[in-house]
Amino acid sequence: MPEPDIAALALAGLRARPKTLPPLLFYDDAGCALFYRITELPEYYLTRTELGLLPRVARETAALLAPPAALVEYGASDEAKAGYLLNQSRAGAGLFAAYVPIDIAAPALGAMAARVRSRWPGLTVSPIVADFLTPPRLPPGLDGMARLGFFPGSTIGNLDPPAARRFLAGARTALGPGARLLVGVDLAKNPAILLPAYDDAAGVTAAFNRNLLVRLNREAGADFDPAGFDHRALWNAAEGRIEMHLVSRRAQQVRVAGSLIAFAAGESIHTENSYKHTLPGFAALARAGGWATARVWTDPAQLFSLHLLSA
Ligand code: TRP
Repeated sequence: MPEPDIAALALAGLRARPKTLPPLLFYDDAGCALFYRITELPEYYLTRTELGLLPRVARETAALLAPPAALVEYGASDEAKAGYLLNQSRAGAGLFAAYVPIDIAAPALGAMAARVRSRWPGLTVSPIVADFLTPPRLPPGLDGMARLGFFPGSTIGNLDPPAARRFLAGARTALGPGARLLVGVDLAKNPAILLPAYDDAAGVTAAFNRNLLVRLNREAGADFDPAGFDHRALWNAAEGRIEMHLVSRRAQQVRVAGSLIAFAAGESIHTENSYKHTLPGFAALARAGGWATARVWTDPAQLFSLHLLSA
């Protein structure tokens, strides 16, 4: 994929009202490292809850597939979750013959592909560097295989409902007839649990959010003072989403690739959404994207869910 024009993307967002920045800019090397730290925070229940469900989900999903199978993971930067699926075997041989991880973060994807190749030597690993929202065609050779798409981490929650429906419909087309799709979905719950997951005591999420500005300084000719912006997470009940903002602490002007962008005191850059679904709400979204819900798993506290969809 050609390098995205980061300055052009940033300027388009900063000229919009309200100001925004495209979330794919979060995931440079520093951003990937910060996000990994988020996944280990005590407040961030999502990752450990999903990991707790995966041994059983992987076993029960694998039981529905006949070898050889292909695993296509959307937004894959480490193999911790896919590993539960890749470890499934049938009659002494691996169930999966092919693994296609798709991610925007090229260095993390390359390092992960190398680890996966050495850990599962029989597996054909075909990484694709792309925004998983507009994935290129899948590699040839998957046609005769049972295809399982995998979209963990509630990354689908970072898409608004129309975009989530488009993603689901696109994955259905790409994966083809008879495919299945396993999706990790964070559930709507008390904001007293949700908000700390996006505004942790150690300030890691704040650093992750501000890293957008650090990146623009380095890669888009910008001169942001990252300390001049507060991290703010809020629960938008009407939209059913957590919103992430960077709020200007004062009136200021910032140069971005030769253009001046003015901020009023208290003006925000809306940097990300994280939609929280109900179980019936997500089933309806899946249906609108052309999928039937085959199975749903949740933890006892109903914090998080995994949905197995069939085409
Ligand atoms: N998919 C993650 C989520 O919505 C991404 C994420 C976690 C995130 N924390 C964040 C995105 C903070 C922006 C800012 O839970």
